[in-house]
Amino acid sequence: MAVFSKPSILALGLALTPLIAAGPCDIYSSGGTPCIAAHSTTRALYSSYNGPLYQVKRASDSSTTTITPLSAGGVANAAAQDTFCAGTTCLITIIYDQSGNGNDLTQAPPGGFSGPDVNGYDNLAGAIGAPVTLNGQKAYGVFVSPGTGYRNNEAVGTAVNDEAEGMYAVLDGTHYNDGCCFDYGNAETNSLDTGNGHMEAIYFGTNTAWGSGAGSGPWLMADLENGLFSGQSSDYNSGDPSISYRFFTTILKGGPNLWALRGANAASGSLSTYYSGVRPTDQSGYNPMSKEGAIILGIGGDNSVSAQGTFYEGAMTDGYPTDATENAVQANIVAAKYATTSLTSGTALSVGSSVSLKVTTSGYDTRYLAHTGSTVNTQVVSSSSSTALKQQASWTVRTGLSSTAAANGCVSFESVDTPGSYIRHANFALLLNANDGTKLFAEDATFCPQSSFNGDGTNSVRAWSYPTRYWRHYENTLYVASNGGVNTFDASTAWTDDVSWVVGSGFA
Ligand code: AHR
Ligand code: AHR
Ligand code: AHR
Repeated sequence: MAVFSKPSILALGLALTPLIAAGPCDIYSSGGTPCIAAHSTTRALYSSYNGPLYQVKRASDSSTTTITPLSAGGVANAAAQDTFCAGTTCLITIIYDQSGNGNDLTQAPPGGFSGPDVNGYDNLAGAIGAPVTLNGQKAYGVFVSPGTGYRNNEAVGTAVNDEAEGMYAVLDGTHYNDGCCFDYGNAETNSLDTGNGHMEAIYFGTNTAWGSGAGSGPWLMADLENGLFSGQSSDYNSGDPSISYRFFTTILKGGPNLWALRGANAASGSLSTYYSGVRPTDQSGYNPMSKEGAIILGIGGDNSVSAQGTFYEGAMTDGYPTDATENAVQANIVAAKYATTSLTSGTALSVGSSVSLKVTTSGYDTRYLAHTGSTVNTQVVSSSSSTALKQQASWTVRTGLSSTAAANGCVSFESVDTPGSYIRHANFALLLNANDGTKLFAEDATFCPQSSFNGDGTNSVRAWSYPTRYWRHYENTLYVASNGGVNTFDASTAWTDDVSWVVGSGFA
């Protein structure tokens, strides 16, 4: 008997090892519903995957580099990105498919709606907008500002028509808006709205044009085209909860006259089912479905580009996964230990202090950040300036008005001479406006200081909600400018100097 006990323990050990070390797509495979697309900038989604996770492109010389896991099955090598992007800005240009199907996501082309970049393409995400740690190791998610989107209209292996599929995504449950539509999943192959049932994608946000759930949102819903569904109809489902998890596991699956929405805190606990049942019956076109099989991230099926959100990882499957398979995926996500980390670097700006910001661009460096009424500009200020001008050029550092960004170090700037008014961006110009208490104002007025780009300054100041954009003086007027974008004030000439400031004590 003893002869047989040793091999059977060994066999048991071998059988358990892959399960213990499995990634989400190993789990889907074991469940009989393999991933046909697997996307993540934070980690490998298969235990053996050691290939490309994503590509970044830097502004300084337009060169690119590929970020891979630190080891097979591991966390992304964020340090490689930090080194490559040092002293300049980087965009995420490709999110690679780890499934072997080549279903990479790249800059979304124009569709029913045009994006804001060249030729109507959508913008690419900045590479540092969504830093996190996984089991203590730094990684970056994909921070989608309005106007940003990725797509693959030639995806292979995705479900078409009424075929069954599953999908999951780990999102930032505190980054959302009511625009259409922050999605991940199956969409039209021509970027146009081709009718009801032509999509099946995870949606997250507070859009109420179609369905909604309990409370005031944000909600996980299914974008099935011309409708965001929280449950059986594109109406109200009290079983679809408002979400406040910082990290949110979202699940959508759909097959012949059956679909489900499930969700969980991605940092602990297990999945709840928000809806599981038949296809919508109150409108035609959703049973059977007419899925087309493209893959979108951050946009609607027709390239609607008004939404925002953050994507860390996600995958799509062949077949309708069992709840048990998804429960194991959720356990794997929890074990990855997503956690927040600082959004700032460089000289710390202490909350409550009065600061000035001096220009570093040669020929302009007697000027300071100031305001004239609601216009934010630069003006020549010195110790002999009037008290009024000194006050116009002094700013009280406040805790960031947007609370989740504030929790990771981002701040707001209140005017010394106009208390209650803060620097905010609107249409990418900086303005001094009274705080109207809205979520949009809080986000527009929250900025993340980091080390200065040119080394002559102490800090550059990033817009939290548009992490490709920094405070920049251009013709002595202030904008949030990207490094070489479509606006005149985005010009790459002098950008590095124009966004670098010496932060010192306030004049008043
Ligand atoms: O279904 C909601 C949205 O409606 C889709 O994402 C878009 O294609 C259409 O505008
Ligand atoms: O500055 C960019 C955007 O423009 C702001 O978020 C919004 O307030 C305005 O539409
Ligand atoms: O803001 C002053 C100058 O105006 C900037 O340095 C330059 O980029 C722009 O022409």
